[in-house]
Amino acid sequence: MSTNPRVLAFAGSTRAESFNKKLVRIAAAGARAAGGEVTLLDLRDFPLPLFDADLEAREGLPPHARRLKDLMLAHQRLLISSPEYNSSISGVLKNAIDWASRPAPGEAPLGCFVDKVAALMSASPGALGGLRGLVHVRAILGNIKVLVLPDQVAVSRANEAFNPDGTLKDPKQQAAVGGLGEKLVQILSKLGIRDEGGGV
Ligand SMILES: Cc1cc2nc3c(=O)[nH]c(=O)nc-3n(C[C@H](O)[C@H](O)[C@H](O)COP(=O)(O)O)c2cc1C
Repeated sequence: MSTNPRVLAFAGSTRAESFNKKLVRIAAAGARAAGGEVTLLDLRDFPLPLFDADLEAREGLPPHARRLKDLMLAHQRLLISSPEYNSSISGVLKNAIDWASRPAPGEAPLGCFVDKVAALMSASPGALGGLRGLVHVRAILGNIKVLVLPDQVAVSRANEAFNPDGTLKDPKQQAAVGGLGEKLVQILSKLGIRDEGGGV
């Protein structure tokens, strides 16, 4: 099996033309260029019911939550592009985190999150680019023991920001988003932490 650093990349949006999906693809390319082994997933392919403790008690983890958890367990690094909904995290992303945070019998608590490293970004047609939502995403992940990189990028006016090929019109912004992926791959060795590449 490859020992390259493994990165799970996704957006907190299911929308087909999602700006956040476009953005996370740029960061994923940066992570690949830095030697990361990237799995890009679309949360649309993981349709989850709203978290419901009665459903969980009755039926356990829904199959798509199990698939998502298995992927998260197999990757030590997370690249997340989060839309901002009413100044906060999208329901889709929060619900995915909530399901992934639930241990199945015999699993360690928060195994999908503890000691993982994440880089965050956001895109919005608004002037702040989803920046206010990132404050909440950062707090949520930090509280479940994810090491979140201080670097982040928020792309404002996202409806005008992308070229038809999916790159950003602003070359500096394009480099900054690619750089997020690159840094996510390199951060552990930069910090002198032995990097085992894959997941737990
Ligand atoms: C319920 C809802 C609330 C929203 N609230 C905000 C907001 O607080 N700030 C913002 O910049 N955009 C807000 N938007 C606009 C989103 O940024 C926009 O729909 C964006 O395209 C969503 O991300 P996506 O393109 O990745 O799906 C909101 C959109 C919806 C549907």
